[in-house]
Amino acid sequence: MGHPGRRRRSLTTPFAHDERTNTAMNSTTRAKWDERYREREVERSRAAEVLERNLHLLPATGRALDLACGLGSNALLLAERGLDTWAWDLSPVAVEKLRGAATRRGVALHAEVRDLADAPPTAGSFDVIVVAHFLERDLCPAIAAALRPDGLLFYQTFTRARTDGRGPDNDHFRLAEGELLGLFPDLALIHYHEEGLIGDTAEGLRNIAQLIGRQSRN
Ligand SMILES: C[S@@+](CC[C@H](N)C(=O)[O-])C[C@H]1O[C@@H](n2cnc3c(N)ncnc32)[C@H](O)[C@@H]1O
Repeated sequence: MGHPGRRRRSLTTPFAHDERTNTAMNSTTRAKWDERYREREVERSRAAEVLERNLHLLPATGRALDLACGLGSNALLLAERGLDTWAWDLSPVAVEKLRGAATRRGVALHAEVRDLADAPPTAGSFDVIVVAHFLERDLCPAIAAALRPDGLLFYQTFTRARTDGRGPDNDHFRLAEGELLGLFPDLALIHYHEEGLIGDTAEGLRNIAQLIGRQSRN
């Protein structure tokens, strides 16, 4: 879906040498995700641990965004906590399934098909942003700027250090060691977790890094 007046960003892709346009790349990405989501159900997906385990940090009211929401488990949780919740994703199949799940649960939220390359969040528009299992490094400054004063970012995605086959095969879409810490330099750090491959890798929270950051007050 196009968003007139907004500048198309050039997001980093694994095809840096590729001469396809962003539009062509994103229609390929959309088709890939649509196909996956046709096989999946919202009821079988789970919210990200970084949100589930830190629900006590959420404000009682405010506007929340589940960015690149997929089937929207985080959005459902945010809306059930009473936040005025938006959920954006490139995949119309995912967004339609999320709308259906919200209706079945009697939860109000705004699920929209939105290409973040075309339409990143606008500055100062959300009190809470959740990003799970999505990594577009060029979007990180816009994500931080989209937080209102005192707003919270809950971020969790896959690391290159891995103990199983979950997540993208391409390391470009996985975090290097400690990388997440550096992607949001202007946010105050509330929580950071990354275990890598130290100790008993059969235990713990592996394959991902988590960050919770807070926007400054002014
Ligand atoms: C690995 S899934 C994660 C979904 C969800 N956040 C979760 O944790 O289950 C990555 C999502 O990013 C979405 N996505 C990829 N590129 C996008 C873009 N340019 N704009 C919006 N969404 C995009 C895909 O459609 C897909 O749903």
